[in-house]
Amino acid sequence: MSQSATKVRLEDLDIKPFLITKLKMAGIESVFDLAISIPHQLVDVACGGTLTETDEHVALELVTKAKKALVDSGLLFKDFSTAQEILERRKNLLKCSTGCSKLDSFLKGGIETQAITEIAGEFGSGKSQICYTLCVTANNPLDRNGLGGNVIFIDTENTFRAERIFQIAEHKGIREPDEILRKIYVCKIFNTSHLEVIIQNLGKSIEEYKAKLVMVDSIIALHRAEFTGRGTLAERQQRLNIILHKLSRLAEVHNIAVVVTNQVQSQPDDFSAGRDGLRATGGNVMGHATTYRILLRKAGKTRIAIMVDSPYHMYDQTRFSITEAGLQDVEEYKDTGKEW
Ligand code: GTP
Ligand code: MG
Repeated sequence: MSQSATKVRLEDLDIKPFLITKLKMAGIESVFDLAISIPHQLVDVACGGTLTETDEHVALELVTKAKKALVDSGLLFKDFSTAQEILERRKNLLKCSTGCSKLDSFLKGGIETQAITEIAGEFGSGKSQICYTLCVTANNPLDRNGLGGNVIFIDTENTFRAERIFQIAEHKGIREPDEILRKIYVCKIFNTSHLEVIIQNLGKSIEEYKAKLVMVDSIIALHRAEFTGRGTLAERQQRLNIILHKLSRLAEVHNIAVVVTNQVQSQPDDFSAGRDGLRATGGNVMGHATTYRILLRKAGKTRIAIMVDSPYHMYDQTRFSITEAGLQDVEEYKDTGKEW
């Protein structure tokens, strides 16, 4: 569905040319971008406050026109579908192996497209290592449990390590690890505003780089650093919410997998937190927006993944280890004494 979405052009819609120019200046380049825009944001972003005769009502009309054009062309699903149609559609979703069979069966096949998978855990728990391994496995063709596509890696913590991905690929027996590195498009983010702009224009990047997997490592670090103090919490949450909703729509319409990492905070008095009192940050906004929520725990040399929230997984947990080859089943793990 997604690839042909680029073929419908804004110019094909019944929209005044000066509005098209304004939309394009705001990074809304395709009918698809417009269809997933939030009307009140369009007034602020696309119109920059200068479009005096335009109010939210007109913005809503623009979005509705774009959606209708996509529905009419069979590129977007209509508002109401039967449950049976939805089940059929779910058959199209793809699953990306994590390279670790236990983790894959825990995930019922792997990391899913059309969904946001959140991986939360304390420092060193393996969040980034999961992302790096997925960078390699996503490159595999569909019949080898990959996504057969490129990767967009949004690095907000400045921890991205290409050499680690090279090492994982090498240890997985891939002959040309450089080939894989060439298919990973990395964007280093400096502050929350930068992240917002990148997410706003992400639809275009997904199409341009033919990405099937988007990762944000981490989704919340910058927000936590920039919005300190109780007085800024509401704004922080609102901005985070907009980012997550955009990611969710992109996942669905482009049939891509989105993985975000999250930090944890200690909440010793909170009974709903884990045994160790650790809980994913971002409050209800994070909890509601992500489809699957996985919590990682360190357990000596191994790691435990816990499915904390999912629309169709039971509460479950599994163990894996991190080796030179990325994520691996615990049985396969041999302590060579060289690893740390
Ligand atoms: P923060 O980004 O600090 O919040 O942590 P994180 O959860 O992203 O941690 P990350 O995924 O970077 O995991 C780091 C851990 O992975 C290290 O403490 C090691 O245990 C493990 N690790 C990283 N590289 C290797 C490697 O080459 N071999 C082995 N065996 N383990 C590794
Ligand atoms: Mg990390």
